[in-house]
Amino acid sequence: MFENVKAIPGDALLALMMAFKKDPTPTKIDLGVGVYKDDQGLTPILPVVKKAEALILEHEQSKGYIGPAGAPELAVLLQTLMLGDDHPLTKTSCISTAQTPGGTGALRVAGDLVNALNPKAKIWVSDPTWSNHFHVFAGAGVEVRTYPYYDAQANALAFERMLEEIRQIPAGDVILLHASCHNPTGIDPTLEQWQQISQAVADQGLLPLIDCAYQGFGDGLEEDVQGLRLILEKCPEALITTSCSKNFGLYNERIGALSIVASTPEHCSNVFSQACNCIRANYSNPPAHGAAIVSTILSDTELRQQWIQELAEMRSRIHRMRANLVQNLEQLSSDRDFSFITAQKGMFSYSGLSKAEVKYLKDEYAIYAVDSGRINIAGINDGNIDRLSQAIFKAINR
Ligand code: LMR
Repeated sequence: MFENVKAIPGDALLALMMAFKKDPTPTKIDLGVGVYKDDQGLTPILPVVKKAEALILEHEQSKGYIGPAGAPELAVLLQTLMLGDDHPLTKTSCISTAQTPGGTGALRVAGDLVNALNPKAKIWVSDPTWSNHFHVFAGAGVEVRTYPYYDAQANALAFERMLEEIRQIPAGDVILLHASCHNPTGIDPTLEQWQQISQAVADQGLLPLIDCAYQGFGDGLEEDVQGLRLILEKCPEALITTSCSKNFGLYNERIGALSIVASTPEHCSNVFSQACNCIRANYSNPPAHGAAIVSTILSDTELRQQWIQELAEMRSRIHRMRANLVQNLEQLSSDRDFSFITAQKGMFSYSGLSKAEVKYLKDEYAIYAVDSGRINIAGINDGNIDRLSQAIFKAINR
């Protein structure tokens, strides 16, 4: 079985993460993998998470299986976080949510579900998108296609081309949309554009699959789900994948969710049973600890308030670093305009740096970014921003 097997290269993003870890340069800067870092360059456990864990340790009664769909109380809490308190969907039982191992786990279950319900359906993703979308859906046996998203000349959304392509996608196919903080570009549609996108998706008879991995990292918890809510106003059926990795800082606890939205409670519970079947065949039951943390925080008024505050601190540090980077680059009077970076949302920025410039930054300054020019703004801090700005200035003026 193993004799003639050839090694394949690992995931480029994870390889970049490992290369950074191994690099002994004391002044190295990590702008690669999408993990939040504070002003000291660390990814600490949120104080509110520590509090929740202490409560869990004290009260936890069992390590028994929690069932394929996970904790029902978490499902309701995540639905409310996404849709608000009084959304008609939650009142009419037209939404069901299964807890999953991270947002990636949710995407895989979504892929398995699409394949189980309609093996001919394709999933359309933005060009560019998070590179793992391709692997996850290919792993689920679903064909992936792309629609235009990024206008490289303008460093902006290629909105007209995107709409045009959506209007060509065959009915019954699935379209993946990033709820906010688009990964990798950081470019989100405006509300007016979301209106038009949701209308086109509905007119075309597509199933929206909304990847909601950064709620609270863009403009705020409410603001970051406005597009998602518009889609649900127009489309009677949808899949939503949630990640709690970033907004709760629970990366290695693997906690996320898949929500199914249907037009009747019966359709919803039928499809949900199919999703549970996919889960059973895949990993049987999700892990419990991360879910317990999120449930503990969201169900307690004081802890929830503390979390909202800690999330706001992460968000505003990212905003500040975006603005400071652009200001620094302007002061270095580079010919290149970087002002578009301030309009981008969330952790990431498509910086416009070329592959060669990214390589130069790594080779000469131990600054790690993704080949595409994507930089993780959360990797910038007051201690490294001057060095980074100088290095970028050198890279583009060579
Ligand atoms: C990223 O895009 O860097 C994150 O979503 C982390 C990952 O797993 O790729």
